Amino acid sequence: MKLTDVQKRMLDGESGEPVQQSMEIIVQLADFWEAPDLIPVQSVHMPGASVKTARRAGRKYIRWCADSGAQFVTTATLNPAAADLTGNDIGITRETMNQQLEITDSYKRMGAIECHTCTPYLVGNLPRYGEHVAWGESSAIVFANSVLGARTNREGGPSALATALTGFTGGYGFHLKQNRIATVHVSVECPLSDQSDFGAAGYCLAKQFPDALPVFTGFPERTSMIGLRAMCAALATSGSISMFHAVGITPEAPTLEMATGNRKLETLTIGQKELQETKAFLDHNDQSEIDLIYMGCPHLDYEEILQLSKLLAGRKVSSNVTLWLLAANSIWKSCERSGLTQVLKDSGAVLLSDTCPNITIFKEVIESRRYRSAATNSAKLAHYMPSWGIKTHYGSTAECIDAAVTGKWRG
Ligand code: F3S
Repeated sequence: MKLTDVQKRMLDGESGEPVQQSMEIIVQLADFWEAPDLIPVQSVHMPGASVKTARRAGRKYIRWCADSGAQFVTTATLNPAAADLTGNDIGITRETMNQQLEITDSYKRMGAIECHTCTPYLVGNLPRYGEHVAWGESSAIVFANSVLGARTNREGGPSALATALTGFTGGYGFHLKQNRIATVHVSVECPLSDQSDFGAAGYCLAKQFPDALPVFTGFPERTSMIGLRAMCAALATSGSISMFHAVGITPEAPTLEMATGNRKLETLTIGQKELQETKAFLDHNDQSEIDLIYMGCPHLDYEEILQLSKLLAGRKVSSNVTLWLLAANSIWKSCERSGLTQVLKDSGAVLLSDTCPNITIFKEVIESRRYRSAATNSAKLAHYMPSWGIKTHYGSTAECIDAAVTGKWRG
């Protein structure tokens, strides 16, 4: 592989041991994928930012890098943590909290933006069309590649950290134009409106074509960001999809022909029947009583918070229900100024930052709070929550708010 003088000097240890080890990781990965060279990246989104994902070895390695004085050379944002660091108690132990604070502190000392969100693009890490980045977190990767037209592979904790310390990644995979061409055509033949529709459509496709690069036709002309974000999360849940096109919506698919590279592809049809079957598959709960509702997977944007505040205005969350709403702390702060957070707090909703059920130690949450029956409008959470021991309903945003207020699932 061709290395520049700067890259060779990093490999020789001129910039210190953490940078040298990072360059070794980057070069070995690039070699494995037969990349001809390394390319500079503008930003990194760190997936290994939680106690649950970094584990003991990761926590120690991240701390060693920070203690050695290593500094990030790219913009770097942090994926959710195991705890809400703004002070909301979600039921995790003191030990988990202390370990989380150690990880967050180490990343901060190296120069990361302490945002702990899966929506880095909402908090200042917003790559341009065609820009090369190195992101982790499956839903954010799909968003970067598909909606923004930026270019990233699916990075893990060690490779993302290595790129933030060196500024380079291997020139392979989704960084190359030829790997961004659709491999299956999905014809959507039913209306998609609520985010649970987009989530179900994405989940349905990825279950059948888990490694595909789909191109969708039939999305609504005015497809909202809410729908696109739900699609991103769902595609990376039942499959390992890192990118999709939607004709007339996403930047690399002005036409079907451009998205497919003029190739004839197999077509999957998603109609009302497939959508309803997928929603039924994702609804694992046979109880009507609800004690936990999670919304904000991916973390909420302003438009969703506005929608939720309209649905909850003047209503009260049932005393038997915890309604947890998840968003980046800076998004909550900007909603505070427009009065939206007050409406939500008045209803009894709990506004969480920094964390997510998938990335906290959910067993500790369930054990301390004794939740038994949940609901969500996120296909990703509906997929994972049952495996953590909690039965979960899947439905629209309005159905989830109705359940929050009545304590019963009537979807
Ligand atoms: Fe984000 Fe967690 Fe969902 S990382 S996409 S809120 S499972």
